Amino acid sequence: MESSAAENWWVLPLTFLPPISGKNESAATLSAMATSFIYLAIFACVAWAGTALLYWAHPGGPAWGKYWRARRQSPRCQIPGPKGLPVVGSLGLMSGLAHCSLAAEAARRPGAKRLMALSLGPVRAVVTSHPDVAKEILDNPAFADRPLNHAAYGLMFHRSIGFAEHGPYWRALRRVAAGHLFGPRQVDAFAPYRARVAEGVVAALRGSAGEAAVQVRGVLRRASLYYIMRFVFGKEYDVSRGVPESGKEVEELLEMVHEGYDLLGKENWCDYFPGLAAVDPQGVGARCAELMPRVNRFVHGIIQEHRGKAIAGGDARDFVDILLSLQESEGLADADIAAVLWEMIFRGTDAMAVLMEWTLARVVLHPDVQANVHRELDAVVGRSNTVEESAVPSLPYLQALLKEALRMHPPGPLLSWRHRAISDTYVDGHLVPAGTTAMVNQWAMSRDADVWDAPLEFQPERFLPDGKAHDVSVLGADGRLVPFGSGRRSCPGKSLAMTTVTAWMATLLHEFEWTPASAGGVDLSEVLRLSCEMAVPLEVRVSARRNVRDYARLQLKA
Ligand code: HEM
Repeated sequence: MESSAAENWWVLPLTFLPPISGKNESAATLSAMATSFIYLAIFACVAWAGTALLYWAHPGGPAWGKYWRARRQSPRCQIPGPKGLPVVGSLGLMSGLAHCSLAAEAARRPGAKRLMALSLGPVRAVVTSHPDVAKEILDNPAFADRPLNHAAYGLMFHRSIGFAEHGPYWRALRRVAAGHLFGPRQVDAFAPYRARVAEGVVAALRGSAGEAAVQVRGVLRRASLYYIMRFVFGKEYDVSRGVPESGKEVEELLEMVHEGYDLLGKENWCDYFPGLAAVDPQGVGARCAELMPRVNRFVHGIIQEHRGKAIAGGDARDFVDILLSLQESEGLADADIAAVLWEMIFRGTDAMAVLMEWTLARVVLHPDVQANVHRELDAVVGRSNTVEESAVPSLPYLQALLKEALRMHPPGPLLSWRHRAISDTYVDGHLVPAGTTAMVNQWAMSRDADVWDAPLEFQPERFLPDGKAHDVSVLGADGRLVPFGSGRRSCPGKSLAMTTVTAWMATLLHEFEWTPASAGGVDLSEVLRLSCEMAVPLEVRVSARRNVRDYARLQLKA
């Protein structure tokens, strides 16, 4: 338990108390005692406020001050950082667009881009906006844990990969997922279904080609959700049909996913002050308790359906089949399987749809970029042909476009989920004690002129073979661009996500010309939920690039 001399001030006023003896039990003594207790209370308050101010005066704020006072020493070299307010520290920075507030705060202090200390209530935190330090944190096994998240607990996600404590259970889940879901063979096996979903999106958009403005978010979310549903649950839906035609089940699922996003993305005060959990001031706990039985009914229903049928063989087995077949050998309870499956739906649906919407927004905003992609597609695929996934490796400009979209609009600007130090460790030469939360600000690195040339310009060319950043991978090897994280906790779905999004973007860009819905262009404002989304949903007009006969063929297939 961390304590310091400052915390023991309260004993001083005890000396004011009159001695208690049988003879002194007169009214005068009682009143003297009452007065002494009032002094005691005032003194305790002053001592508490004094201690809070003492802690707060430390760089990085109260949580860091408390730590160093308890150790009765000062760090050799302080990690720079804002003090914030007494007691709550810099919690205010985490509301709204936290990645922007943290970037602004780091830019204001010398050395804070490399590593900045801050206090989130009593929780010590560090954040980096520097590529070398980002790699150091992400690849350091000491940061393989996740901090407390009450909503994740409420939704049973502490039994899923993303929030499970670092240890044998988490390792077993990662092994199963890597070996049976996200391996190259499994990703390839789903190529035909990826193509079917892409055709469904084309068919859905074709209905509005050349006419009214379309909001693409709805169809992109449905496409991602249906795709992951097929990948994970083995359930198939038709994207070209609107939600009402797809039935009540899909509507309910979309609603549950939406509610889950909202809950997991919320800055919950109880995560910093666990004592508040009983009061649940933001109502997060109550909403989780309401959502959980609905999720359980849905997911356990699917598990029972799979148990009822013979397990299908072949590479295109879904993840439920795989988890059930490994249930005994890996010691997984039904509740564990449900948590893992549900998390896949969340992560898969949200981040892929968000990335596609940002990419299309940039394509609409930069007609020169769109013309370059179209030129490449026409040369490689041919204007009258449909895109085959096998063409993607020959489309370097399209791949560069997606890298640039991930650079400027990473779906997780702070990498969505934070890391927590399991043991004392050193980062950039500073001691970071066990229990400290660590964040990487990808958004800030993307906008740093010391890291990128012309960082605010949207230039896919920088990633082309003759571009300055041609060797930068998005998969975690280079600290400048880590939209999927890096190291032990990096995204296990990154290859699936990149393969899917690249293939779908190739089809959507080959099929249509994309223009803004209004003369006002595209509003690039952001809103940070579980992912960082466009605050104003993208509205576009699409017009067909290929002739109508091709569409008639697609319609028949869809
Ligand atoms: C564009 C799409 C995606 C992006 C940008 C993305 C990004 C991320 C990021 C930044 C992390 C945290 C990394 C860290 O803490 O260092 C993460 C973790 C994770 N992602 Fe993804 N992701 C995407 C798609 C997917 C998909 C399709 C799935 C599965 C269907 C998935 C499943 C997960 C899981 C399970 C974790 C937790 C890993 C762990 O804690 O061990 N992601 N993702």
